[in-house]
Order: sequence, then C-alpha cells, then structure tokens
Amino acid sequence: MALYRTYRPKTFDEVIGQEHITKTLENQIMNGHIGHAYLFTGTRGTGKTSVAKIFARAVNCLNPLNGSPCGKCENCLKLQNDNDINIIEMDAASNNKVDDIREIREKVKFMPVDVKYKVYIIDEVHMLTDSAFNALLKTLEEPPKHIIFILATTEVHKLPQTILSRCVRFDFRLVSVKDLMRHLRKIFENEKIECDEESLKLIATAGEGSVRDTLSIADSIASYCQGKITKEETLKILGTTDYSLNVKFFNYLKDREVGSVLALIDRMEKEGKNLAVFSKDVSKHARNLLVIKTCDNANEILNLPDDVFEAFKQQADSFNEKDLIRYMQVFSSAENELRYTLSVRLLLETTCLTAMMGMEVKKN
Ligand SMILES: Nc1ncnc2c1ncn2[C@@H]1O[C@H](COP(=O)(O)OP(=O)(O)OP(=O)(O)O)[C@@H](O)[C@H]1O
Ligand SMILES: [Mg+2]
Ligand SMILES: [Zn+2]
Repeated sequence: MALYRTYRPKTFDEVIGQEHITKTLENQIMNGHIGHAYLFTGTRGTGKTSVAKIFARAVNCLNPLNGSPCGKCENCLKLQNDNDINIIEMDAASNNKVDDIREIREKVKFMPVDVKYKVYIIDEVHMLTDSAFNALLKTLEEPPKHIIFILATTEVHKLPQTILSRCVRFDFRLVSVKDLMRHLRKIFENEKIECDEESLKLIATAGEGSVRDTLSIADSIASYCQGKITKEETLKILGTTDYSLNVKFFNYLKDREVGSVLALIDRMEKEGKNLAVFSKDVSKHARNLLVIKTCDNANEILNLPDDVFEAFKQQADSFNEKDLIRYMQVFSSAENELRYTLSVRLLLETTCLTAMMGMEVKKN
C-alpha cells in the first residue's frame, strides 16, 4: 500500500505543519463550540480531507482525548468505516449540478444514525455551478443543528463572497522542509528503510510543501533503492541537480568561464542527467538568489533547509540583481524550446552563452 495511504493521520496530533488549525479545532471540540460550516483551503496534499475526517469523528466521539477522536468508543469504531452514512464525502468536480445540491438539501432533513452529527465533506467546492452555489447557500443559511458542512478547495478565489461569509475559514499552509524531514524520518524508521540526511532533505524539498507529494516521491525512491536510500540514486530519480552543482555553475556564469560551463554540460550529459530539468533548475536558482537579495523574509518564501539557505545567501552577495533577472529570462524562455528541440545540448549551451554575454533574447 502507498505510504500516503498507510500514514493518513487519525488524530489532530498526527497532522503536521497545520498547528494553527488543529489547535483551534481541538479547542472547539473540548469546549463544545462547534460551527456548522467550515471552509478548508490550501494546496493539494496538505491535509484538508484528513483534518475534515478527524473532525467529523471528533464531534461524534463519546470520550474525545484532548479534542481528538479516541479511536476506541462505539462511535469512533463505527465512523472508522469509510462508508459510514454519517460522513458523506462528495466530489464537487463530478457532482456540480444544482440537482446534486438539492439532493443534499433534501437529505439534511434526516437525522444522523446512532451518532450526534452528520458531516458533509464537499471537495473541490469551487467546481459548483452558479445555481448549485445558490442552492448550497440556502442550506448554509439555515443549517439543521445536527449537520456540519466542511467545504474544501484548492482555489478559494473562485468561491462567491456569499459562501465565504457563511463559513469559518482555515487556510492550510505549505509544510516546511524541516517538518517534512521529521515526518519522513519517522516513517522510514517505522518501515525499516535506511536513508541518509542528505537524501531525506532532497526528498522533502522535492515535495514542495505537499505531504502527499513528498510521501509519493519517497515511495518511488524507496522501492527503487530496495530499502537503502542513497544520495546518488535519489538525485538520479529526482532528475534534479545537486545544490552544490547549481552554486558551482553560477560561479562559472558570473566569471564568464565558458570552457568550464561547456565541460560541466558535457559531464552531465555523459552521466545521463536530464538537461531540460537542469535548465529549469538554473532559472529556479536565479530566482532563489534574487529573492534572497531582495526580500527580508526570504526563507519564509523559499522554504530551504538552513545550511542550503546559508550557502545561497553567500553566493547571492556576489551577484547583481540585473544579471539574476537576465538569467531567469534567458533560461525560462529556453525551457519550452528545450522540451521540443532535437538537440537539447546545443540549445542549452547556446542559452548559457547568451546568459553570459548579457545579450537580450528576443522572442518572435
Ligand atoms: N498535514 C499533514 N500531516 C500529515 N500527513 C498529511 C498531511 N497532509 C497530507 N498528508 C498525507 O497526504 C495524504 C493526503 O492528504 P489529504 O487527502 O488530507 O490532502 P488534501 O489537502 O485533502 O489534498 P487534495 O487537495 O488533493 O484533496 C494523507 O493520507 C497523508 O498521508
Ligand atoms: Mg482532499
Ligand atoms: Zn471515540
């Protein structure tokens, strides 16, 4: 079974990186101040559905522990079944018509079975049609006491203000590399998978703040490496380059060391690295340095491991903003072409030379 399925959190404590949300919900359970409409927003794989399910069990648990479901009482056991009729999951992407919502409006009149609350979890709620939103609004305006709605979306800006104003909103954050690493370390220990710190960092960084993505990447690397993850294999599978390689490459660019740049590209090609991915990494690195140069809270934006951030910061000092902006332009406009060209290497070399000469690239 996939790691992200095995490790679906069952209590609020097991949810990582969303303390601002889980603390509030725990308090609501402990104080009995429970709302009737919640809105969970945020990137994919950050815990919206997991938290919605924990909450749905917690409101019905007979002996909640610090606000989380106990997992042992009659109700918890009943609601652990994913098909229990008191927790209704609906995907608005495929049930977005007004009739689908009207059906809910009819059904909310019925009492929950054997438990206190019936909980509707409506995923991807931004996909509802206008008339479906209106129908939902009517239900949200006068929700029956025994009903809780949890709306979830990755695209909150598509929701009408009328819906927003009726929900208690929680914004799920991207999870930091540090938290992801701690989480992975525990899981690997549990699964008896060996993994060095550097690989751990690479995997956590590649997940880009999504726990689900991080675990999927970990899954594919672990099965490729058969229980012992090494940095070389991790880099190979991720297809991305080592941080230190980026730093080195940028020093060559800055010093206009044409020969070193060409030799490095040659080496990468011989090692079977994906040059198009490398080019993407280069524009990303230029952006990283630019953010570091221009923003006070740079690492809140970049989310890099501490030692990597320090190394980048040092390098950022030796670049000027104009050059970094040009690298971003040159390499990101090459990105698309790199996908289609027959000679990736030649195009990458040309792109590097263009970046070094500081010539403008024109697109027709
Ligand atoms: N904050 C988190 N803490 C621990 N595990 C998490 C967290 N977020 C996601 N996961 C892991 O990812 C899996 C999927 O998470 P979940 O379905 O809750 O994400 P989601 O935010 O609803 O994503 P989507 O937007 O794609 O619906 C979980 O089973 C769990 O393994
Ligand atoms: Mg979800
Ligand atoms: Zn319980």
